[in-house]
Amino acid sequence: MIEISHLSKTFGHFKALEDLNLSVGEGEIYGLIGPNGSGKTTTISILLDILSPDPGAIITIAGRKIPEKISEVYQLIGFMPQDLSLYLDLTVEQNLKFFAKLYRIPKSNIAGRIQKILELVDMEEFRKRIVSKCSGGMQRRCSLAVALIHEPSILILDEPTVGVDPELRIEFWDFFKQISREKEVTILITTHYLAESTNCDRIGLMNKKIVVSGTPEELMKNVKSAKNLDEMPDMEDVFIYFTHQEKKMRDNGHEN
Ligand SMILES: Nc1ncnc2c1ncn2[C@@H]1O[C@H](COP(=O)(O)OP(=O)(O)OP(=O)(O)O)[C@@H](O)[C@H]1O
Ligand SMILES: [Mg+2]
Repeated sequence: MIEISHLSKTFGHFKALEDLNLSVGEGEIYGLIGPNGSGKTTTISILLDILSPDPGAIITIAGRKIPEKISEVYQLIGFMPQDLSLYLDLTVEQNLKFFAKLYRIPKSNIAGRIQKILELVDMEEFRKRIVSKCSGGMQRRCSLAVALIHEPSILILDEPTVGVDPELRIEFWDFFKQISREKEVTILITTHYLAESTNCDRIGLMNKKIVVSGTPEELMKNVKSAKNLDEMPDMEDVFIYFTHQEKKMRDNGHEN
């Protein structure tokens, strides 16, 4: 559903991405996990044609070449950016109405769609509240609602659970899993919370490129046997192990 090969991105002399390769299947939840500055948002920005890649990258979403066919793809994608992109002086409902019109949802469907989405993200009672007066968690819910308003088949979520309380985080993940299973929605998601990444079907640990990719179980098993552990490691151990391995390889590469 999302295919990226040979993706590099240079800002001036700084290489933010170096030959990143990534493939996300239909209906899959794929988690991009990496430290600050590892290139997660840059990757997403290139997928959405907000940034241009260095020459040589091949990117397709739902079989359409990016950036050439991006306008077709926008209709299929729901995007929740790392920084919220809501109109702060509009109410929750007005924001949803605005985006519904932007996505050309037929006028007769808009009210029903908004009602459904508000119920989904549990924001019905706050529909008339100005977004700037909403709490951080409510704004996150609202941002997710905006991303879902046109019933996209692909969701791209950049740190959707940052600043969200644990209860709502669990609700968000249950919801992501539900739409992935029931509606075959493909989800590319970034998160800082390593424990959360076990909710993904597959994860990619990234540092300018995908250092290692696999199901959470596969990665944990790999580390268990590589380190000869008696117990299964957690995702934090997995992350530290592969980050160190990658750093070692990088350092050796520079020495040679
Ligand atoms: N427009 C830009 N100009 C120059 N450098 C940039 C630009 N955008 C991103 N970078 C740099 O590229 C690197 C990758 O940034 P990016 O935002 O993709 O990281 P990230 O993995 O999303 O980090 P975080 O976890 O903090 O959100 C960083 O070093 C950042 O400073
Ligand atoms: Mg980011």
